[in-house]
Amino acid sequence: MTTIGVFDSGVGGLSVLRHIRTLLPDADLVYVADSAHVPYGDKPQHYIEQRAVELTRFLIEQGAEAIVIACNTATAAAAARLRRDFECPIIGMEPAVKPAVTATKSGVVGILATVGTLKSARFAALLERHAKGIEVITQGCPGLVEQVESGDLEGPETLSLVERYTRPLLSHGADTLILGCTHYPFLAPMICKVAGPDIALIDTGEAVARQLQRRLLAELPDTLPGDGLEHFFTSGDPHAASLIMSKLWGNAVVVHPMEDAV
Ligand code: DGL
Repeated sequence: MTTIGVFDSGVGGLSVLRHIRTLLPDADLVYVADSAHVPYGDKPQHYIEQRAVELTRFLIEQGAEAIVIACNTATAAAAARLRRDFECPIIGMEPAVKPAVTATKSGVVGILATVGTLKSARFAALLERHAKGIEVITQGCPGLVEQVESGDLEGPETLSLVERYTRPLLSHGADTLILGCTHYPFLAPMICKVAGPDIALIDTGEAVARQLQRRLLAELPDTLPGDGLEHFFTSGDPHAASLIMSKLWGNAVVVHPMEDAV
């Protein structure tokens, strides 16, 4: 039975999980939110690497045969280490620079991401590979992940952060904005409202789900379909996590503490 393990610093990875569920309706999904350690965006690389190793080990203990790092920051910090330490397929993600470069008409692309992602060597290499001839403006977004974690997707504090981070990109002529952190798709309606109808928003969730599907077919072709179940875990407060994850997932979910897992 195919079991996929998915992790993020918190609830942002649910924006990837929903695409995985759509594409792989029979797979059993185990999701872990590292809520006790969120946000990752301001943490050093070695810290995120250690967390990623621990979460991957946990997911494999829960039966995961493939791991999705549903977090741009953790991919930049820890994908190489996970691929060294674990044998199963490890699917990471990075800001969607390539599709944005294809989509822009103004030749200016804005990227909203965590400070950790933007200062990583992996991100520098991504720009080097795909952003030739295009002006790319990066914008770190401290505080935005915390707003999503607290379930505030519409309030004035969140709006003021979204305005502060989005407006400079627009005034520089960006017509395409990359949502380079998995928490931000939950703010897409607000970002759209601030940016207006002519600005394209690009996120990577669906592409990651397609990449996972390709890797499963190529590397685990004989696994039987699962029962289409989802199991949710957190390293933080399970009650708080259940409330916010139910809201973002769109169905009531029960989130278990990691230490209760078998
Ligand atoms: N959701 C994450 C990402 O895609 C990490 C956010 C954070 O914890 O700072 O980058």
